[in-house]
Amino acid sequence: MRDTIVKKVLPALRMLASRDSVLTLRLDDSEIYSTIQDEEEIRNLPFVQEESTILMVDETIEPSIVLSDLEVKLSMWREERSYYPDYIWIKEIGLIALAPNAAQLDEMLGKEEGDYSISLGRLADKIAIVTGAAMGFGAGIAEMLFQEGANVVIADWNEEEGNKMAQQLNQPATSNRAFFVKVDVSDAESVENMVAATSKHFGGLDLIISNAGVLRAGSLEEMTPETFDFMTDVNYKGYFLCAKYASAVMKLQAKYRKNYFTDIIQINSKSGLKGSNKNFAYAGGKFGGIGLTQSFALELMPYQIKVNSICPGNFFEGPLWSDPEKGLFVQYLKAGKVPGARSIEEVKAFYEEQVPAGRGCRVKDVVRAIMYIIEQEYETGQAVPVTGGQNMLN
Ligand SMILES: NC(=O)c1ccc[n+]([C@@H]2O[C@H](COP(=O)([O-])OP(=O)(O)OC[C@H]3O[C@@H](n4cnc5c(N)ncnc54)[C@H](O)[C@@H]3O)[C@@H](O)[C@H]2O)c1
Repeated sequence: MRDTIVKKVLPALRMLASRDSVLTLRLDDSEIYSTIQDEEEIRNLPFVQEESTILMVDETIEPSIVLSDLEVKLSMWREERSYYPDYIWIKEIGLIALAPNAAQLDEMLGKEEGDYSISLGRLADKIAIVTGAAMGFGAGIAEMLFQEGANVVIADWNEEEGNKMAQQLNQPATSNRAFFVKVDVSDAESVENMVAATSKHFGGLDLIISNAGVLRAGSLEEMTPETFDFMTDVNYKGYFLCAKYASAVMKLQAKYRKNYFTDIIQINSKSGLKGSNKNFAYAGGKFGGIGLTQSFALELMPYQIKVNSICPGNFFEGPLWSDPEKGLFVQYLKAGKVPGARSIEEVKAFYEEQVPAGRGCRVKDVVRAIMYIIEQEYETGQAVPVTGGQNMLN
């Protein structure tokens, strides 16, 4: 029941309660709420302010009834009082706090003392998931979305680095928040849980960046069926799973708020536009990703969900290329892949020369493309190359 409330009621409630700007909300289902019987007991909680308004829902037969009950109660509420209550208590489920931003939710649920400045960025109070956000492109993207005011879910299978990343983002006292969710994007249940955790913590979902990816290069002779499956599961199936569970929340939001646009963005690669020698398992999955993007875009545009891929060139400054022990520059130097190169700098210079812009792709280049896609309401199903001129569309 609680799971279904999180998946089927919270994103709808977020839109039902919002007026000019869209709210954030959070369900706290801690043990303390299980024994509460009436409004008085909620008012006695130390963090609930005297002037706070509370809506009580005590019919919890099934989620669709909870939702229709909420719809009726909220419209009556609006006629009599302010346009949304500060809290909604749902019997046997927990306490939901509603506010314009996530820092206020923390305060209202007794998690943090409020001392923050309101985010004024281009993504202020939007809710975003970035998969593979513990390092590389994903970490950089998460950081820049956070700087633009978005609430960001750092979703990764690397728990240690992912948690560090979320903590690092939360340090500046802004009104948006980040939190870490452990996920394996190739596992359906894990992705479904990631999306549910986002709805429970922030109330819904406006943007998912399907970024987590793996690369194991190899010729037909070298590539084992197991490695091929592993890469396909993360790079190709992982994107399908992200789109499947994210779009369910986005569709629900679209049902309750007209013309509310949301985005599914896949971080693809220039290898999704052009074959890659002895790297077919990667290129094949990325080509397939563009097929998914075009097909999802057709299916989801009626719900104002835009679906696009971004195809970056090589991120030379990231760990995949520059890790001093296992980065591709070191590997290529040792393997003598670049004829005559005697140092990492010479290997790097060889690859930079192949880019008309004379340098590798940076996080900022990718984020500019992300911002273009989000702010554009008339673009879907595209694969946007960000390659410094190395790959051009036909
Ligand atoms: N690095 C490049 O040059 C480059 C160029 C073009 C496109 N890309 C694409 O950008 C994306 C990110 O690449 P990167 O180079 O930053 O990679 P990276 O290896 O630096 O980081 C990838 C992150 O994804 C996480 N991850 C991997 N598999 C996962 C799974 N199954 N579930 C959850 N998390 C998982 C890792 O823990 C890591 O934090 C990938 O989709 C990649 O194909 C990279």
